[in-house]
Amino acid sequence: MIQHDVVIVGAGLAGMRSALEVCKELDVGMLTKVYPSRSHSGAAQGGIAASLGNSESDSWEEHMFDTVKGGDFLSDQDAVEEYVKAAPRVIYELEHMGCVFSRTPDGKIAQRSFGGHSKPRACFSADRTGHAILHALHEQLLKNAKSVKIYNEWYMHALIVDGDRCNGVVVSNIQSGEVEVIQAKAVVFCTGGYGRVFKITSNAFASTADGVMAAYAAGIPLEDLEFVQFHPSGLYRQGILFSEAARGEGAYLLNGNGERFMKEYAPSRMELAPRDIVARAEQSEMDAGRGVDGKDCIHLDLRHLGEARIMERLPQIRQLGIDFLGVDCVADCLPIQPTAHYSMGGIPTDLHSHVIIDAGGTRMNGFFAAGECACVSVHGGNRLGTNSLLEAVVFGERAGKSVLEYVAGIDHGNVNEGREKARVLKKFEDVFQRDGSESYNAIREEMKEVMMTHCGVFRDAEKLNVCIETLQGLQERFKKGKVTDKGKLFNTEIYEILELGNMLSIAQLIANNALQRKESRGGHFRTDYPKRDDVNFLHHSMVYGSQNGPVVKPKPVVITKHQPAERTY
Ligand code: FUM
Repeated sequence: MIQHDVVIVGAGLAGMRSALEVCKELDVGMLTKVYPSRSHSGAAQGGIAASLGNSESDSWEEHMFDTVKGGDFLSDQDAVEEYVKAAPRVIYELEHMGCVFSRTPDGKIAQRSFGGHSKPRACFSADRTGHAILHALHEQLLKNAKSVKIYNEWYMHALIVDGDRCNGVVVSNIQSGEVEVIQAKAVVFCTGGYGRVFKITSNAFASTADGVMAAYAAGIPLEDLEFVQFHPSGLYRQGILFSEAARGEGAYLLNGNGERFMKEYAPSRMELAPRDIVARAEQSEMDAGRGVDGKDCIHLDLRHLGEARIMERLPQIRQLGIDFLGVDCVADCLPIQPTAHYSMGGIPTDLHSHVIIDAGGTRMNGFFAAGECACVSVHGGNRLGTNSLLEAVVFGERAGKSVLEYVAGIDHGNVNEGREKARVLKKFEDVFQRDGSESYNAIREEMKEVMMTHCGVFRDAEKLNVCIETLQGLQERFKKGKVTDKGKLFNTEIYEILELGNMLSIAQLIANNALQRKESRGGHFRTDYPKRDDVNFLHHSMVYGSQNGPVVKPKPVVITKHQPAERTY
């Protein structure tokens, strides 16, 4: 059995920031199914929010209000307040760790505009901000290599829970196929989101809900799963992100008639309205037959920005357009469409990144979560761009600090190594013994298609019921899948099957939650209930596993400074 003081699952921004905190005093094992520098945080492009006020006067109070309004008043405001207050310090710390931010002419950290933010507060490294921060944190971790052991290309299968205490994880080495138990006094999940359940997504292949579903399997409820964010500018048909930074720098959105249609939907903010509103506007234009060339696509027009500005501020976007489409945005418009980008919901935590198991905030001892897999909830029903890198760093650090407090003076809990290994080996065996004819690839494609068309930007009861039924059918077919590789070494097929199992399960929970929330709020829009309903639905959704299937119950929203008000832009 492997033993560490603390095991952190996931090596993106939240995981690495958390590890840096913990390794000051304790021995850390950090597990990733890829490599730290290939984590999905690296795909974040446009910036990280903080009210530095380097371009215009700004304050944490304004950042807080924008975040709460952007989240359609579903954010827990105590969490938002602490998080936006921490932002300026966090930016300077990242800079001191070696993250190179773009500068103003007088040498300050430059800040650009982003959707839903009333002030320019996105600090950025051109359009590779996540990448820049990821590498700075990775360098810091390598400096601390003595107290952090990184398990690259290892997969986490299950949490080890004994009563109200979490004692470790069951994992396997993808290269050798060996299953191992890691015993730890505390476990931190920073396992990211689950955008890969949708056909069009900006998410990396690794975003498959492994952490979230391992928590659910261990009896922990999940919060606000119905709130999925569609980013307005995904590369047409592929979903790859074209950063909102383009619009922050002044790019336009044009429909098939060449009109800047956002004047009809958010006249005061135009292209810089929050993402839920812009994505719905795009989808409405396309549904009304005003997509470009009659297709499911909108134009992102950067031509008026000029080559010099594009090369200074948006070089990656230009290269992506050239590489994937043969379109150079200096001369031509980029075809885009909404792309599943971010999960507002996840594993419920309190302000200190402790995982909680009920609406009353009861903690699961020794279990912490941060970043996209967690639901604190600072983003409520819709996250503002650049607030997620901030969340990952702020709550990654918090998780680390909370772990240090929790672990002080406690011993490892009991772990029955044989039993824990056996239950994961059985999972492998179950898959290997299937002698079915169903294609897992086909099942995956059908899941992605139905989630996109029936549980996407616009939802209604009829579509959601079809979606749920389809997913049930896919679950049945999943049990009769055909496995071609039964070997142990680098058997990526088996991991893709396990990931698909997690995705099918979370897809069902998302659709079920969406069916039960009979209102429209943030990223969840029901065409059969197009209004926000604060009387009946101003609460978070907690879904609990039970013998009879998932049970959804409310959890109160924490409202401190800002009473819910009509959300107009
Ligand atoms: O568009 C973007 O650059 C994405 C940023 C974010 O999701 O925070």
